[in-house]
Amino acid sequence: MENDTVYHKRDFWGTENLRYVKPHFRMRKVAAQLRKLAADRELDLLDVGCGPASLADLLPANLHYHGVDIAIQKPAANLLEQDLVESPITFKGMTFDIVVAQGFFEYMGDVQSRKLAEIAELVKDEGKFVCTYQNFGHRRPNVYAPYSNMQPPGTFRRDLTRYFKIDQVFPTAYNWGHSHPNRGFLRAPQERFNVPNIPVIGPKLAIDYYYLCSPLRRP
Ligand SMILES: C[S@@+](CC[C@H](N)C(=O)[O-])C[C@H]1O[C@@H](n2cnc3c(N)ncnc32)[C@H](O)[C@@H]1O
Repeated sequence: MENDTVYHKRDFWGTENLRYVKPHFRMRKVAAQLRKLAADRELDLLDVGCGPASLADLLPANLHYHGVDIAIQKPAANLLEQDLVESPITFKGMTFDIVVAQGFFEYMGDVQSRKLAEIAELVKDEGKFVCTYQNFGHRRPNVYAPYSNMQPPGTFRRDLTRYFKIDQVFPTAYNWGHSHPNRGFLRAPQERFNVPNIPVIGPKLAIDYYYLCSPLRRP
């Protein structure tokens, strides 16, 4: 059967990913986790699907930032422009202490498994993979037009565990609508604290999930 997955390309993302210049709720949450994870260690980090590389501004200098994306906004030595559906995820032959992919797998159509396998190869043995994935089980899922890879959280998690051990997972936020909270009383506490999984209601109200993973190394 012919594969009819629609992938958006550089002509689309070159303007679309400018929407992610201003650090958003999820990015600030992920950055806080990365700062905690790194503490004062000197580490190499790769941001897969880095967009305008805004995450870099939220990280300390001891986290050496590298990014890869189909549409790099400001060329720099630590940023690489690559269509990751077409080519393997690589960065100048390097391996990394931390690989991050936030808001990326939703666009990976039918190459999700292959990309997870490639990331597992890029993470050092003692390194970590940090990723997020939308909760398409939300009571009113938001379907952003460029999504090419929508599946329930359990299906994503099963694929993840083929290559990684999941050390930690929690929703980045809960909200009645499928968007990160933008009002103070809902936003402020959730920005500060990680709300654990709440059985039954959690899966209907979680916006997306944060995963901290270690690569599986088979003998
Ligand atoms: C929703 S944005 C997320 C950007 C950033 N990670 C963030 O959290 O703000 C998705 C990113 O994936 C990138 N992307 C989409 N398809 C891609 C592909 N085939 N290869 C590389 N990057 C891609 C887009 O350019 C965009 O920057």
